[in-house]
Amino acid sequence: MTGPLGAGPQALPAAPLEDWLRERYFQAKTDISSSGVHNYTFGELRALDPALLGTRELDELMFRDGPSLGDERLRAAVAARVRPGPGHVVMTTHGSSEALYLAFAALVRPGDEVVVATPAYHSLSGLATAAGASLRPWPLRPENGFAPDLDDLRAVLSDRTRLVVVNFPHNPSGACVDPRGRTELLDLVANSQAVLLWDGAFTDLVHDHPPLAEPSQDLDRVLSFGTLSKAYGLPGLRVGWCVVPQGLVSELVRIRDYLTLSLSPLVERVAAVAVEHADALITPRLTEARHNRRRVLEWAAASEGAIDCPVPRGGVTAFPRFTAHTDVTDLCERLLARHGVLVVPGRVFGQADRMRIGFSCPRPELERGLAAISEELGTHARGRRRGTG
Ligand SMILES: Cc1ncc(COP(=O)(O)O)c(C=O)c1O
Repeated sequence: MTGPLGAGPQALPAAPLEDWLRERYFQAKTDISSSGVHNYTFGELRALDPALLGTRELDELMFRDGPSLGDERLRAAVAARVRPGPGHVVMTTHGSSEALYLAFAALVRPGDEVVVATPAYHSLSGLATAAGASLRPWPLRPENGFAPDLDDLRAVLSDRTRLVVVNFPHNPSGACVDPRGRTELLDLVANSQAVLLWDGAFTDLVHDHPPLAEPSQDLDRVLSFGTLSKAYGLPGLRVGWCVVPQGLVSELVRIRDYLTLSLSPLVERVAAVAVEHADALITPRLTEARHNRRRVLEWAAASEGAIDCPVPRGGVTAFPRFTAHTDVTDLCERLLARHGVLVVPGRVFGQADRMRIGFSCPRPELERGLAAISEELGTHARGRRRGTG
């Protein structure tokens, strides 16, 4: 039996992040909003494997229905990279968004308690709400730079907790558990009745330690999620995956039978090339993002206290606080209207005095974006001084 997600979209809360980006994304001239690395073209992918993506090879591709769990070659490529633990299999999906939907629909029943590391990407809390769960935020505290504190998790876990939902590295702050924190977190969940949902959208994008190991290597009751939308620079391909316990596969497939059935063989062909050449796509973007991260932190440090920026440990977004503002939404609107610069106001994550700034873009674009923010802040401050003086 599935939960009330099947009852229809009226159960789903709004997604303010998507509402903000929906039109502005296409209006922006300088995009420093994104949580993913900057994008690749089809030509760049084709160059990685002309034998699979050449014109003749593509002409011969047959548009058959795909298998319910995904194309074998793509699933094998994902498995070779993420290394699922015993008893777990890879299922490929339409972005990790579909995988998350399937997981919440399969696992949550009305009245279940769901612990969510908060602030959270909207799917991670909204799908729990839509399934009738009672949300228990695990607060990632802004005053600690959003660093996860496992005592705070202990305080919200109970014997009614059905799911623990985490996303490390974290969108939007870039906070992350380190390898020791990962072990402690998995131990905590293992000693509870809960299932862990591990959103690893940014697994490959870590700056201070190697990527965290796939959690199913150390925990049975876990589903993990990955995507080509963030580290691979291919959000428009709409390919993600989940690593699921074998025992849950038929339930996920049953829900998929009513939703998307399978992926396109063309999309899975392209995705297989991407995953088989993951390092060629990820490494250059990660190197650039690390330089850019340093630049964002220098820029914030030079603001004389106007911008307070926690160090992002992973991902490609910073989530600074604008100390003279209680809500930066107007500032974000002015950035787009006057400079064509797109950022994300923190209110979409429940943190109105902050702004999400994506730093995986070519350096000149980042500089243009940061300069526009500085200019607006300066104008704003001078205007206020005039007003009060
Ligand atoms: C934390 C997190 N999880 C999941 C997703 C969904 O991404 P996709 O469906 O493109 O894989 C996103 C996208 O922004 C995200 O930030």
